[in-house]
Amino acid sequence: MKYFNKYKPFPKFKFPERTWPNKTLVNPPIWCSVDLRDGNQALVQPMNIQEKLEFFHHLVGLGFKEIEVGYPAASDTEFEFLRELIEGDYIPDDVTIQVLTQSREDLIRRTFEGLKGAKKAILHFYNSTSPVQRQVVFGQNKSEIIALGVRAAELIQEIRMTKEFQDQNGKSRIRIEYSPESFSSTEPEYALEICQAVSKVFAPTIEDKMIINLPATVEVYTPNVYADIVEWFGKNFHNRDSIIISLHTHNDRGTGIAASELGLLAGADRIEGTLLGNGERTGNADLVTLALNFYSMGIDPHLDFSNINKTIQIFEKCNKIRVPERHPYAGELVFTAFSGSHQDAIHKGFQARNEREISDLEKSDKDQNTKKEIDINNLPWEIPYLPIDPKDLGRDYTSVVRINSQSGKGGVSFILEKDFGISLSKEEKKIFGQVVKDYSDSQGREVNTWELKRLWEKYNEELNAAGSLSSSIK
Ligand code: KIV
Ligand code: ZN
Repeated sequence: MKYFNKYKPFPKFKFPERTWPNKTLVNPPIWCSVDLRDGNQALVQPMNIQEKLEFFHHLVGLGFKEIEVGYPAASDTEFEFLRELIEGDYIPDDVTIQVLTQSREDLIRRTFEGLKGAKKAILHFYNSTSPVQRQVVFGQNKSEIIALGVRAAELIQEIRMTKEFQDQNGKSRIRIEYSPESFSSTEPEYALEICQAVSKVFAPTIEDKMIINLPATVEVYTPNVYADIVEWFGKNFHNRDSIIISLHTHNDRGTGIAASELGLLAGADRIEGTLLGNGERTGNADLVTLALNFYSMGIDPHLDFSNINKTIQIFEKCNKIRVPERHPYAGELVFTAFSGSHQDAIHKGFQARNEREISDLEKSDKDQNTKKEIDINNLPWEIPYLPIDPKDLGRDYTSVVRINSQSGKGGVSFILEKDFGISLSKEEKKIFGQVVKDYSDSQGREVNTWELKRLWEKYNEELNAAGSLSSSIK
């Protein structure tokens, strides 16, 4: 690896006035799923209308109130899906659909056609603003790019205000979102300038805000820099109260989640992302992880992942990609311990929790006057190595401890007790734990629970045969 000199460090952004490092996350943001657009456009095989519809219903069920449903001017499937949603009356009253368009007249007009009859929608338009995009892709200078964004804004505003549109759409409410695409690679001062120029066209107010979306289209610097720029942007925007600052992070450096979280500390109001992080290249910010990070800090995320297996099933079926085993909160192995010391700690954690449950129930039984329902699920969660209760996601404890040659006596006794009600003495834990370890090592694989039970029976038969028995069945 000797060619690192061809990469430049991101120019320093000085913002000593930053306040975000002293802030704490206390409320979830406005969530917007971009699965059906950004996620979909990154798929080897994009979703068909049926799959998009199934995904859309799932997003609604999870609690999303803003859903980017496509890029209707990009293909017939995209356009037809939008029409199907509107004409089929599939959009609940409290859900706003969002559609994306480039800042081109033909595409903007086609997008408006697609939106006919929508009760509530966000029209999201963008143009790219970074130096390399300006020079290499558009061949335009800074003011020409501003003029391009402003022209698109004026056209959108003009169409929104025409009598024809107003008559056709009656009570419909079309809100506006603008993205300076490649914001993360754009000079912050210039990004602010173009966003302000565009927003002036719509004259947003506190009652009728527009959304300014700040995409880390490609993640090129560390999350603290993103947060600095987001805070600086909000502090310098001329009518900050009239805009919603939205973040749209990608994950090229693997820190999309961190960038979103720090960006929220820095004052952003809204997050765009996808379920389990599908999206261009390394993906978008994963909304499952972001939401459950809030949940794990005792904050209601206003999204419901209590049946995470269903989310995984829809994700895999419609996107035709797999969720990796180590994916935060959702991967098959993320609530599983193989190592002996982890298993031992988990076992002890569950024992302590059971004891606390029993004592709380006894307390409430005794004191009839103040008797109140004790919801076991609400007892403080303090199990080592398990950041949240797998049951909250609709998972059980079966895979919390799995046995292989790295496992110890704690894990073995945990499974025998949990699955078969067999409790081992201290001595048995030690000797039988070693028996299992040796067996797994000799087989070169994991030992499942039924095998474990058979090993336990065999161990006892041999002890019996040798004339000594020592077990206690609960
Ligand atoms: O990543 C991006 O910049 C986008 C924009 C169109 C918002 O997806
Ligand atoms: Zn994107």
